[in-house]
Amino acid sequence: MATRSVLLSSSFLLIFLSFSLEKSNALEGRKTIESNFHTIQLTSILPSSSCKPSSKGKRGGTSLEVINKHGPCSQLNKKGEKGQTLTEILAHDQARVDSIQTRIAAQNFNLFRKTEKTSKKYRAKDSKTTLPAQPGTALSTGNYIVTIGIGTPKKDLTLIFDTGSDLTWTQCEPCFKTCFPQQQPIFNPSSSSTYSNISCSSTACSGLKSATGNNPLCSSSTCVYGIQYGDSSFSIGFFAKDKLTLSATDVFDGFMFGCGQDNKGLFGKTAGLIGLGRDPLSIVSQTSAKFGKYFSYCLPTRRGSNGHLTFGKNGAKSNLQFTPFASSQGTSFYFIDVLGISVGGKALAISPMVFKNAGTIIDSGTVITRLPSTAYANMRATFREFMSKYPRAPDLSLLDTCYDLSNYTTVSIPKISFNFNGNTNMELVPNGIFFVNGASQVCLAFAGNGDDDSIGIFGNTQQQTMEIVYDVAGEKLGFGYGGCT
Ligand SMILES: *[C@@H]1O[C@H](CO)[C@@H](O)[C@H](O)[C@H]1NC(C)=O
Ligand SMILES: *[C@@H]1O[C@H](CO)[C@@H](O)[C@H](O)[C@H]1NC(C)=O
Repeated sequence: MATRSVLLSSSFLLIFLSFSLEKSNALEGRKTIESNFHTIQLTSILPSSSCKPSSKGKRGGTSLEVINKHGPCSQLNKKGEKGQTLTEILAHDQARVDSIQTRIAAQNFNLFRKTEKTSKKYRAKDSKTTLPAQPGTALSTGNYIVTIGIGTPKKDLTLIFDTGSDLTWTQCEPCFKTCFPQQQPIFNPSSSSTYSNISCSSTACSGLKSATGNNPLCSSSTCVYGIQYGDSSFSIGFFAKDKLTLSATDVFDGFMFGCGQDNKGLFGKTAGLIGLGRDPLSIVSQTSAKFGKYFSYCLPTRRGSNGHLTFGKNGAKSNLQFTPFASSQGTSFYFIDVLGISVGGKALAISPMVFKNAGTIIDSGTVITRLPSTAYANMRATFREFMSKYPRAPDLSLLDTCYDLSNYTTVSIPKISFNFNGNTNMELVPNGIFFVNGASQVCLAFAGNGDDDSIGIFGNTQQQTMEIVYDVAGEKLGFGYGGCT
């Protein structure tokens, strides 16, 4: 639905802009100028408090419905319960970003890949966090959830999905230490006839080191995993196997996951997390015999529906552009190469070396795209220039380019597009440009890293409503428009 309003808005743009036809080449000029701006109804980017119900059934292939945990369509946001504030969401987002950057810097440090400067920064971050900042210190949680089935008989579990980590885990009875409140009944291994513990001596157990960053422990010969996330959330429990059910016809025996006995943190009312990273223990690798390490998703806007997470090539859309995954550092993250950015049709004067030195990952769980400082400063200056007719609004947490649009019904905003390796261009939809706290505080949804060395992250606000395809076996990332329709 949100996508439809975007489409509607872009046809608006053809009718809307008015120009003085002074010059003989005015028509040509109009074409250029129009195509560099989105002219949209303000309401099309404002959050809504009502859920627009899914208008379509699920697509082909093995497709799970994706909803925004913070949006009105989430069952986890019950009436009367206070959700996270936008400031809290942004604070958690920064914790996740710090954690990702620390983890990647640590890998670089171990692999002797980067300069001493990076390793110093790694140590500096290490000292100000309570987490052991070793490679693998994992991530804060993302904002999108899906429901899968585990066990026999199958129990439905709603999990956060995360392309930035690998181990799938859920809270498990008897919750030897702590379980946080979750909406569904907590998974009870003793009522599943197909559950088994994984032994300490198995190779799968030693695989936890790369999947979680932590060496496994052993408890009466059962393998014990531990995983921490950026905001000091964690899960510790038995490493186990059970039947995984994605759909009636997609059932996987012996799926390895964490059966969490001590779980704490900001997982909302979900039952845990599903890890879509590149490690051999991720769900992508464990289901590769059937799905060929190929998955796709569309992340709906906060008010939208029709999001999906689809495994296998069958459900994939056509009309995609592909950019090769960049050489990776470590086993989890998906690296891509940004070559340039343009704002309002103007290619920003950023040396491609800036992006190359920092590197970029695409991540389903980071909300706001992070850029090297030099790149962000350039984008911000150009964006502000094009938006100068609109009154500014106060900063919103880490967002420093906000506007008060409460006096407007229609706004004209510069288009933003990313040029990726492989001669591909992604033009962001209007919802992908802003993080919106009502009409009086509409903020550019980008932030700088504070330096030019830390990894850039292409975040989920920018991915909204797009079809995003991870062809992990083919080593390329695909994207297209209108993925949630
Ligand atoms: C799994 O291992 C734990 C710890 O050793 C034990 O308490 C539990 O009963 C085991 N579960 C099964 C089904 O074997
Ligand atoms: C909106 O318009 C009113 C009336 O003209 C004016 O007083 C107010 O300052 C404007 N607000 C903004 C944010 O531009």
